[in-house]
Amino acid sequence: MVKKFYVTTPIYYPNDIPHIGHAYTTIAADVLARWNKILGRDVFFLTGTDEHGKKIESAAKKKRKNVKEFVDELIPKFKESWKKLDIEYDKFIRTTDKTHEELVRKILQRVFDKGDIYKGEYEGYYCTECEAYYTEKDLENYCCPIHKIKVEKLKEESYFFRLSKYQKELLNFYRKNEEFISPKFHRQEILNRVEEGLNDLSISRTNFDWGIKLPFDDKHVCYVWFDALTNYISGIDYPKAKFKKYWPADVHLIGKDILWFHAVIWPAILISSGIELPKKVFAHGWWTFDKEKISKSRGRVINVDELISIVGVDSARYFLLRATPFGQDGDFSEGALIERHNNELANKLGNLISRVSSLIEKNGIKKTENKLLKKLNIKRIENLFESYEFDKILNEIFSFIDVCNEYVQSKKPWETKDSRVLYELSDSIKVIGILLYPFIPSTSEKISKQFGFKIDFKEIEKPLKIGKIKKAEILFNKIK
Ligand code: MSP
Repeated sequence: MVKKFYVTTPIYYPNDIPHIGHAYTTIAADVLARWNKILGRDVFFLTGTDEHGKKIESAAKKKRKNVKEFVDELIPKFKESWKKLDIEYDKFIRTTDKTHEELVRKILQRVFDKGDIYKGEYEGYYCTECEAYYTEKDLENYCCPIHKIKVEKLKEESYFFRLSKYQKELLNFYRKNEEFISPKFHRQEILNRVEEGLNDLSISRTNFDWGIKLPFDDKHVCYVWFDALTNYISGIDYPKAKFKKYWPADVHLIGKDILWFHAVIWPAILISSGIELPKKVFAHGWWTFDKEKISKSRGRVINVDELISIVGVDSARYFLLRATPFGQDGDFSEGALIERHNNELANKLGNLISRVSSLIEKNGIKKTENKLLKKLNIKRIENLFESYEFDKILNEIFSFIDVCNEYVQSKKPWETKDSRVLYELSDSIKVIGILLYPFIPSTSEKISKQFGFKIDFKEIEKPLKIGKIKKAEILFNKIK
């Protein structure tokens, strides 16, 4: 039977056009989706936008726009950005979709009927940028620890979700499923906090109305995170066939700032609703400027168009996954981006393709056993994909590209006219092209046309069929 693979990104707040941080999670999800596709799996990739709540309402007000019209204008920008970045998602969910809203109300009603929602009063602090509640001890000078802006003091009637009731079940679940919270170093911090005890969660607001009304009290709108998290099942038509086929999610990819919502609140909502839990939540690090998270509210951002305009789509995708381990923070620098584009993509990969193809045009190619390929540890790459170590995968592939370039240099096929060497190199280029496909899909497609192979993991084992190979066009132009 064909294995399935269901990957999600967070749904983004459409309060502005997407930036590098949003692009990062989405590219990583695309890499995983494409990798699983070339392994022959049945993949579903969900992304979308988180459109309710105070934050979006305020952003619309600032522009003096009706909220729905405001988000409707921004959604095409997200879709265009993803198209430009070669993101091959299967569904784009919006939390203003009718089917999503209906499901949120259904889940709220179910949790309420179970006795897991009760009315009370919320008193505490709120950061609209995070759309999150804070206690006094979380704050730094009454400012949000993430956005460094003043939080709002709230005192209002609210419905609460009995999160505290699920403490034991959550702890048991984490213990049984060691890889649920990934990478490992985040696991203990969540375990510790849950062990300290959980407060019930305020899940409704009354002082604005841009949201889903509670089915059991229409004076209240649903807390935006309860609404948003449900996208992961509404996006695959819970409880219909698509849900049955793809749930549980194989991985929710997220940034580390929203781990608590995904590792604690979401599982508790699911347990309360009687739905199986996702297999993994993987939290990546932040792109920073001078060690500060890049975000709109902090002033300095780099949006998707800017990113692409520096080095092009494939080099941008490559850089984001190569430059820093997935899970760790990385300081963004245009210089480093250009350097990798020039030294790694243009010099190493680009030169290998252009040299080998032009040598074949002049000297021909002759089939032989590819001994060169023994220098590449493909099993290790497969394992690294399982642990989301994208930087190491690329490192491994590029070390092999170095080996190939050195092989050309030392075998001197232009002197010896040994066209078997060129077969070994072409067959190795096939493997390189297939393994790089998840990261730089359009470049890989060019290479595959040039050398005449199919992008499919199974092709790695099969010797390259010799077709007509002509000198390749330049894949990456160097940037000064
Ligand atoms: N709407 C919520 C998610 C709901 S999911 C059920 C949200 N949206 S967001 O637009 O603020 O951010 C979405 C994602 O982008 C988060 O995973 C966040 O970590 C990521 N990034 C935003 N800025 C980032 C960086 N500077 N660096 C890396 N990723 C960061 O949160």
